[in-house]
Amino acid sequence: SQSIKIAPSILSADFARLGEEVRAIDEAGADYIHVDVMDGHFVPNITIGPNVVKALRPHSKKTFDVHLMIAPVDPYIDAFADAGADIITFHPEAGAHIHRTIQSIKARGLKAGLSLNPATPLNVIDPILEDLDLILVMSVNPGFGGQSFIESSLPKIEELRRRIDAAGKAIDLEVDGGINMETAPRVIAAGADVLVAGTATFKGGPSAYASNIKALRG
Ligand code: DX5
Ligand code: ZN
Repeated sequence: SQSIKIAPSILSADFARLGEEVRAIDEAGADYIHVDVMDGHFVPNITIGPNVVKALRPHSKKTFDVHLMIAPVDPYIDAFADAGADIITFHPEAGAHIHRTIQSIKARGLKAGLSLNPATPLNVIDPILEDLDLILVMSVNPGFGGQSFIESSLPKIEELRRRIDAAGKAIDLEVDGGINMETAPRVIAAGADVLVAGTATFKGGPSAYASNIKALRG
């Protein structure tokens, strides 16, 4: 079977102990550390900025998968790159020049991802598919953890899997939102190979992280 990566979202972690939490999910088998950055403008919530990513960087060697739910994106790429991000994923609605933003991320030696909201059509990726390292299918509307999985994500994942396979390029197909023991097998069957999980990873506390991650991987 395709190798499945689990990317715990630290939005669901204890924000008073973020360094310890990052170390805990690293040791519990996380493949990526999914960092949700929200600006209270692009989404109706505010989380963390580059300085927190910088503080977390020494606590894990795993890939920092930084999900920017901010607008504009361009003024902050250097700050997140300097802070230690490995992947920067942004939303096409965050600015007018998607191609340029991707080039700016890659110019810093980082991987570039594009995040598609539930109502954003797949066709956005057509002109830039070859430039992307990761495509993030949002299976909830961005802004919060603990929301319910949006079923229309499944056919979107299936079609995206077809387009990625047709392109013949190694592009992560990441799914984000409402991923749990019930939805994980379904998004994997649809073609996802990276699963973001906040609530489902952190539920039950640190002693449960490893078994939660293992169960999500299937
Ligand atoms: C939502 C974030 C997601 C969220 C996932 O805007 O992008 O990464 O933290 O949380 P769960 O897994 O609880 O739906
Ligand atoms: Zn996210």
